[in-house]
Amino acid sequence: MSEPTRSRIFVTRKIPGAALDRLREAHDVSIWPDELPPTPEQLLENVAGCDGLLTMLSDRIDETVIKAAGPQLKVVSNYAVGFNNIDLKAAREHGVCVGNTPDVLTGATADLAVTLLLAAARRVEEGAAEVREGRWGAWKPSALLGVEPEGKTVGVVGMGRIGKAFAERMVRGWNMKLLYTSRSDQADVDESLRGRRVDLDELLAESDFVSIHVALTDDTRNLIDAAALSKMKSTAVLVNTARGEIIDQDALVDAIKGGRIFAAGLDVTTPEPLPPSHPLVGLPRVIILPHIGSATDTSRCGMAEIAVDNVLAGVAGRPLRCEVPL
Ligand code: DGY
Repeated sequence: MSEPTRSRIFVTRKIPGAALDRLREAHDVSIWPDELPPTPEQLLENVAGCDGLLTMLSDRIDETVIKAAGPQLKVVSNYAVGFNNIDLKAAREHGVCVGNTPDVLTGATADLAVTLLLAAARRVEEGAAEVREGRWGAWKPSALLGVEPEGKTVGVVGMGRIGKAFAERMVRGWNMKLLYTSRSDQADVDESLRGRRVDLDELLAESDFVSIHVALTDDTRNLIDAAALSKMKSTAVLVNTARGEIIDQDALVDAIKGGRIFAAGLDVTTPEPLPPSHPLVGLPRVIILPHIGSATDTSRCGMAEIAVDNVLAGVAGRPLRCEVPL
């Protein structure tokens, strides 16, 4: 009996858990050894001759990469729920399937959006900096006053899996009124969370807290620009755990400096990493995290299992466990 064919797989970073062992047993796997991603040139070199790629959200997989891999490339399995780093048109044209890792990171990412909302609203970053830098003076009745979510209005931009999990937390935990944008009506959200689907302008004008949960596409790039920020309440808190490019960051700097919104909590920025010299860094009432929405052991190991399943299915010519429609 002939041995099953071993495919060549390139994995662009070490990932947590034991899932890669399953891939190594079945195929010839090379794993990029560094913590820093391969440069574009190193990526092109390493993908050559591969049948499958397991990629990170920070790897740009465009037509040049797909062509550099060669015509045998069958699958690009992204270790993320988002796939804006992959040129889907090029994948379709070259007959390459694309996989992602939904569901297992929904709760962790929603939790981080709640964390950022509370941290920004209660000025946690400024308070912690006072302690760290020896500026903690007397207890002052009016120092570091923040805003409270209880009973206020939360606006969820994009009611997908993560938007819904975030909305559930805010409505059930803080008895908030829910407004949301969505491509379609969501009867379950309206019923179980007393949500109301509105257009973006109404959501921005009415919400005390706005959280972004849409995918990055040509339609959502700079969705929250100067005009959008000017519609928000001056007491509003803006949270983004989706993708940095959805917010016009220069406009956000102006809005915070000008007191046009109260605070912002960001897990995603443009670029990533955001240089420490960027005007957003160190701005009072802005808290920035280094894209850690899915950074729990449970989520990252779950993502690894799905990403590996996607590669195994893709190189075998089977439908992927989680396949991105092309
Ligand atoms: C994803 O998987 O797309 C998330 O941004 C990771 O935090």
